[in-house]
Amino acid sequence: MDGANHSVVSEFVFLGLTNSWETQLLLFVFCSVFYVASMMGNSLIVFTVISDPRLHSPMYFLLANLSFIDLGVSSVSSPKMIYDLFRKRKVFSFGGCIAQMFFIHVIGGVEMVLLIAMAFDRYVAICKPLHYLAIMNPRVCIFFLVAAWMIGFIHSMVQLAFVVNLPFCGPNVLDSFYCDLPRFIKLACTDTNRLEFMVTANSGFISVGSFFVLIISYIVIILTVQKHSSAGSSKAMSTLSAHITVVVLFFGPLIFFYTWPSPSTHLDKFLAIFDAVLTPVLNPIIYTFRNQEMKVAMRKVCRQLVNSRKI
Ligand SMILES: *[C@@H]1O[C@H](CO)[C@@H](O)[C@H](O)[C@H]1NC(C)=O
Repeated sequence: MDGANHSVVSEFVFLGLTNSWETQLLLFVFCSVFYVASMMGNSLIVFTVISDPRLHSPMYFLLANLSFIDLGVSSVSSPKMIYDLFRKRKVFSFGGCIAQMFFIHVIGGVEMVLLIAMAFDRYVAICKPLHYLAIMNPRVCIFFLVAAWMIGFIHSMVQLAFVVNLPFCGPNVLDSFYCDLPRFIKLACTDTNRLEFMVTANSGFISVGSFFVLIISYIVIILTVQKHSSAGSSKAMSTLSAHITVVVLFFGPLIFFYTWPSPSTHLDKFLAIFDAVLTPVLNPIIYTFRNQEMKVAMRKVCRQLVNSRKI
């Protein structure tokens, strides 16, 4: 824990979400149900795609990778939050806090690049259908995956490099339920203006940038679909509206956190729950329940699981 060498703060205290017992109980039930649902739904998607050879196509591989990342999105802050709900003193060690921020940004970066790769995949499938297999070949898929993980790691390391050695000497209370940069740097006993700018420039830029790239690519796809209006276009529209829903729900809260000047409202805590608990569940629901192929494959996997248990 070398970051704590020149600071007296060795742990942080979360204020949590609320003091009302009823709200805590409600959040406990709500978050636990969603956490379990997300872990089961996303594991089922990964397992189904890997085990069914008919789903071995770029779209499903990217979907399985997104589900894999969603397992991380669910696990990086909500188990600790659920565990903390009924604790009087919600403490988190300095190292734990740094680790949590590190993983939040790795996972967030990977998820963004994967969403862009999925948009690109739909763009090629819809706008250049004859070249789909040539363009989205296995090498390109691997390239997207490697790029996603590298960008996630670099994005996270760059920001963490600025904050691991910050001196902390004063208050150690975070009005939140997880560690993240905007509130964390405010506690350092040094001039934090430049650091806040760095966070806005890095996390803010990456989230606003990816959001616009995605929205523009969906607009291009929609315009193309409308021009060649045919039987396939309503199916394409339903896939696209699913993607756009995920993108808006995922990026809305993030853009709010990293570009809003002062995180002081209650609103951002509840938006944070939204990103941590709700979006990882929405992905499997939105992508799967509208997709016949996926539904059939999942039913088969479930039957196999039940049968193998009987033997
Ligand atoms: C991610 O995608 C690659 C191919 O692009 C695939 O081989 C791999 O199984 C996928 N990973 C998961 C966890 O689904």
